[in-house]
Amino acid sequence: MAVAAGRPTGQIQPENPLTAGLERLPVAPTTLVIFGATGDLARRKLLPALYNLAHEGALPERFHLVGVSRKEKAHEDYRAECEEAIRRFSRRKPDEQVLTSLLANVKYIPGTFDQDSVYAELGRVIDDFEKAAGVPLNRAFYLSTAPGFFPVIVEALGRSQLARHENAQVRLIIEKPFGTTLEEARELNRRVLSIFQETQVFRIDHYLGKETVQNMMAFRFANGMFEPLWNRNFIDSVQITAAEDLGIGARADYYDHAGALRDLIQNHMLQLLCHVAMEPPVSFTAEEVRNEKVKVLQAIPQPTAEEIPEMSMRAQYAAGHSGGEDVPGYLEEEGVPEDSNTETYAALRVEVENWRWAGVPFYLRTGKRLARKVTEIAVTLKPVPHLAFSQDGSLGVQPNQLVLTLQPNEGVSLRLGAKIPGTRMIIRPVNMEFLYGTAFLSQSPEAYERLITDAMRGDATLFTRNDEVEAQWRICDPIVSAWTQAPGPLAIYESGSQGPKEADGLLRDGDRWRAI
Ligand code: BG6
Repeated sequence: MAVAAGRPTGQIQPENPLTAGLERLPVAPTTLVIFGATGDLARRKLLPALYNLAHEGALPERFHLVGVSRKEKAHEDYRAECEEAIRRFSRRKPDEQVLTSLLANVKYIPGTFDQDSVYAELGRVIDDFEKAAGVPLNRAFYLSTAPGFFPVIVEALGRSQLARHENAQVRLIIEKPFGTTLEEARELNRRVLSIFQETQVFRIDHYLGKETVQNMMAFRFANGMFEPLWNRNFIDSVQITAAEDLGIGARADYYDHAGALRDLIQNHMLQLLCHVAMEPPVSFTAEEVRNEKVKVLQAIPQPTAEEIPEMSMRAQYAAGHSGGEDVPGYLEEEGVPEDSNTETYAALRVEVENWRWAGVPFYLRTGKRLARKVTEIAVTLKPVPHLAFSQDGSLGVQPNQLVLTLQPNEGVSLRLGAKIPGTRMIIRPVNMEFLYGTAFLSQSPEAYERLITDAMRGDATLFTRNDEVEAQWRICDPIVSAWTQAPGPLAIYESGSQGPKEADGLLRDGDRWRAI
């Protein structure tokens, strides 16, 4: 399939010099196999991402898609489902020619993931693609199934000789959650790495595919002005928020076993913390960047049983008001047991015990059904040592704060103190803003677009390494087990609110949560 041929022009605006970086790197011919091809993630994220890559001519010239799932259906029916998902969830309206070209050759294989016949059929389909192409095709196996199937599929790929190719690259992309405890993560790593080499494995944390997360590296390491300030001498605290206005939707099955700590803190939020706290890598290769992130995680002490009540808290949403509607509480959501103790909000205070950060609190909080969707990192500097103009009224003087917003409006904002015009010296905070949307005049690609391309190119920089995922679990594991073993009463917050008041108990030295 030559998707590039149907590519519409004019998507990238050549007259805007700031869009120069939007060009795409070449990808070798590839067959992408999605296990769990009819699931929610495939429909909402993976297929639309593939369409948008095709739209931009960013898929390889020879690209084949194979869906594998339990349900029996014909190739044409699966193609129709892909089309429906793309039309519904793509960030841009599909171009008919690109869509037809992308879906023309899509194959579907029904079966359960432990059935050897599924892999035999998959082998035949892949071979046929190779024969037709006349060149070896790289293979990327995307595990977008329930996590219990990850080892089953990996081992079946090994048994059926699909995990090796003499003349092409074979890659394994694994969705989250990567285990639900440290022990499970270790066991999964062991089983995956008994078949694949670590360099073939791409563990997804979709936050790493977000433009703003990558931009944090540019921001820190391409600008000399921040580095001298980026340490315990000048920074007072770091606050990372991932607030969502939505509830758990139809995901009770998964969510009630996961909870907010496992769902967002163990992965996305610790990754954000790593990007704030890591040392400049020697180079931007996958190994160097991930080495630095692992060092940060290792510098966070594993919480002890005594520390856990002091440095962590959790809560659950009650009924309330969100998006102009009355919404039910967590316990009334469909599929949630009426006595569930699962947290829908979690907050932590951690320290990174190294020379750069010792003594600086890192506050992390996440929750469903909060006042609005916002993901941001706020870095608060220490207050000025002396206010010379205090008698003239300087109540508005607040410490400088740098806020990196990941969503909804990606950008960077710096809070400065400025004099209000007039004869008196009265200071108030003002913001200096940079917004992606207005500066680059382009829509950022979806995280999955970037991640799928990188995995197909074999660049693992934006994926979690085996030791990294284990280091993340090392921090969260004791908290998860403390909460499970001694559930205690959960704090409750109203849907649509700022979250539980009890979260204030984590704050130190006059720190305050930012408004959501
Ligand atoms: C997922 C979680 O990993 O991230 C979801 O499982 C959460 O519960 C989602 O809603 C948030 O992602 P984003 O990109 O919308 O911030």
